[in-house]
Amino acid sequence: MLEKIKATANFIKKQSTLNPKIGIILGTGLGGLVNEIEIIDTISYEDIPNFPVSTVEGHKGRLILGMLGGKEILAMQGRFHFYEGYSMQEVTFPVRVMKLLGINHLVVSNASGGLNPTYQVGDIMVINDHINMFPEHPLRGKNLAELGSRFPDMSHTYNERLRNKARLIAFENNFDVKEGVYVGVSGPTFETPAEYKMFRIMGADAVGMSTVPEVIVARHMGITVFGISIITDSGVPGQIVEVSHEEVQQVAAKAEPKMTLILKELIKSI
Ligand code: HPA
Repeated sequence: MLEKIKATANFIKKQSTLNPKIGIILGTGLGGLVNEIEIIDTISYEDIPNFPVSTVEGHKGRLILGMLGGKEILAMQGRFHFYEGYSMQEVTFPVRVMKLLGINHLVVSNASGGLNPTYQVGDIMVINDHINMFPEHPLRGKNLAELGSRFPDMSHTYNERLRNKARLIAFENNFDVKEGVYVGVSGPTFETPAEYKMFRIMGADAVGMSTVPEVIVARHMGITVFGISIITDSGVPGQIVEVSHEEVQQVAAKAEPKMTLILKELIKSI
């Protein structure tokens, strides 16, 4: 496994003269941030040795190396979801590679269903904690001691300084952001009303099908994490309507400019 990670990192290093310290994973319908990046190099996932190939609609599947907010960044346009059939090792492989490339900050975005009754569709939520409800753990199995500890601490998973900064950016630009707990689930079904209710009772503010595995692996390796979620549909009793992947993409795309602004300004400050 470590050999594969090293081989992939070496391959990527050879494709670009950049040496980014900031990694970005773009979620469903949120690829528009790419328009803000001064793209210097791109690499299709299918050309990267040991990389899984992205299958879900709305994901292009390429690595982008470029400049954003005055910083060198490495962005994943399209991520690997557990529901697509990938193992947890495959889902989190790119984050392992990022670490070997020298990345020490990871910014993750996603679309999610709102559980907190004060949230509205289209809202942006800064993630301040998570609940892992995936049926498999990305760190199960032999620990790669070169990369991190057997029993990683998770008490400060989402960096407080970056969360405060994100709220300040929103305030300065006269828009509202929420802050709350993201529960990560396998999918691919959206939740039943009873499941939305259960996740709310458990203490979550939003539910989605990604992010948690990548964040766990990033923290395992000591990478600083910032996470942001767009509320694309409601799981609040009385507000639940039928939801489709297309709608999730549309709402995400609409809310994206605000998210893009936050991420660009945030990256400037790193
Ligand atoms: N549930 C799970 N994942 C999601 C949702 C949802 O309601 N919306 C977008 N991703």
